[in-house]
Amino acid sequence: MLKIKNLNYSITENDTVKNILKDINIELKDNKIYVITGPNGSGKSTLVKLIMGIKSPTSGDIFFDEKNLNPLSINERANLGISFAFQQPVTFKGLKVRDLLDIASGKKNDFNSLCNYLSTVGLCAKDYINRPIDDKLSGGELKRIELAMVLARNTKLNIFDEPEAGIDLWSFDNLTKIFSNLKNSTNIIVSHQRKILEIADEIILLKNGQIVKIGSYKDVLPMIENNVCNKLRGENE
Ligand SMILES: Nc1ncnc2c1ncn2[C@@H]1O[C@H](COP(=O)(O)OP(=O)(O)O)[C@@H](O)[C@H]1O
Ligand SMILES: [Mg+2]
Repeated sequence: MLKIKNLNYSITENDTVKNILKDINIELKDNKIYVITGPNGSGKSTLVKLIMGIKSPTSGDIFFDEKNLNPLSINERANLGISFAFQQPVTFKGLKVRDLLDIASGKKNDFNSLCNYLSTVGLCAKDYINRPIDDKLSGGELKRIELAMVLARNTKLNIFDEPEAGIDLWSFDNLTKIFSNLKNSTNIIVSHQRKILEIADEIILLKNGQIVKIGSYKDVLPMIENNVCNKLRGENE
């Protein structure tokens, strides 16, 4: 469903070229859960932003159902069926939670379906549907609303960049349950959390902008624990 071929991303800083992603090749299948993990700064967010079109690659191609995404804008990719939940959620001036969920699902939702979306992410609909989506919401609340929005969009490919960030107080079991229940879509989750790694069909381990390993939890865990665990924790090399 998604094929990434020879993808490179570099930036120029003070006249020096910094290669952020180097020759990334991945093939994703329908209806599977992929977890991208790796140390801070290894390029995880950059990779998922390239898929959504938030950044443009220096070279290489990304195909979604055989269609080359390179010339397509974020909106065009969204319309093809790709959703993205940010590591740092965005606020939407003037919109209420219910408006956002209506826009996301493409229909006017009744209270019950709004309640369904919101309770799935651990929020009580009656307290939230009429709340404006502004900076009065906490980071954790915004994050959950954003998750609810992705669920409401019900797209073929969902991308979540560190969905656990900011919702530490909320049980991870709920979060992992949401992901395990997303059966009719392909999901890419950037995460460090063991419980999320455990539900992956495949884990993609990134290090210094390169793929070190693609495999099952069983295959990848020893590499994380023995070789790169300090880096995964963001400690010194
Ligand atoms: N706009 C930018 N300008 C300079 N460096 C950047 C920019 N965006 C990302 N980087 C660098 O690219 C690397 C990968 O970043 P990122 O994809 O956010 O990593 P991760 O999500 O794995 O923590 C980091 O070294 C980061 O500092
Ligand atoms: Mg990141």
